[in-house]
Amino acid sequence: MKKLEQLYEGKAKKVFAMDDPNVVLVSYKDDATAFNGLKKGTIEGKGAINNRMTNFLMQMLEKNGVPTHFIEEISDRETLVKKVNIVPLEVIVRNVAAGSLSKRLGLPEGTPLRRTVLEYCYKNDELGDPMVNEYHIAAMGWADDQTMKDIAAYALKINDLLIQYFRPLNIDLIDFKLEFGITNDGQLVLADEISPDTCRFWDSRTHEKLDKDRFRRDLGGVEEAYQEISHRLLGE
Ligand code: TMP
Ligand code: ASP
Repeated sequence: MKKLEQLYEGKAKKVFAMDDPNVVLVSYKDDATAFNGLKKGTIEGKGAINNRMTNFLMQMLEKNGVPTHFIEEISDRETLVKKVNIVPLEVIVRNVAAGSLSKRLGLPEGTPLRRTVLEYCYKNDELGDPMVNEYHIAAMGWADDQTMKDIAAYALKINDLLIQYFRPLNIDLIDFKLEFGITNDGQLVLADEISPDTCRFWDSRTHEKLDKDRFRRDLGGVEEAYQEISHRLLGE
């Protein structure tokens, strides 16, 4: 298969066309942004860590019945994935209060939640990815009711599988963000990435933050946190 032109450059990844119309190549960058691009920086080695970690977790999820866009890792930073139409939603799964939920509801970070919370944000940088509910999604036609049922069921299943996977590594999965897409043959699949950019990981013994919050909040030890997660998960 041959790599063709660049289709898109996002904040953390570039996407290239391939000579197969059902496949695209994703290339992970070391660039980091926060607060809708207001804060910019570089996290040395992040691209390779996020690529390898995403692919590892997506293969684990596939084995457990969650369809994903993953096809093949072709280098440290590059992966072939199924071309999809992205459902324009960020699907947020929360087990413990943190971040914007803590702010919105005045809950100290670390407050356990009685049950898992699902939230949806409309993917639109100009609007700052506003939170929406299922009524907005149906009214705007961003996804149909069956697709939303499937997305919610997959999101909860992914949460269960990830929690179980991370527990023996002494990592608490506080919350995370997923994106889904529809392939050219109409299949709903998990897309985008699962990485310290898109998850909150806390050390279960020390409660130390091992994710992008170290960059967002200028906590220091950013590269070290990514390496620590990579080491626990991949042994690298
Ligand atoms: P939040 O508490 O800021 O809403 O973030 C919830 C989760 O979603 C957290 O694990 C980080 C992740 N996230 C992204 O992946 N991309 C984003 O643009 C934002 C705001 C959060
Ligand atoms: N990556 C997102 C941005 O630049 C937000 C984040 O991860 O905090 O806006």
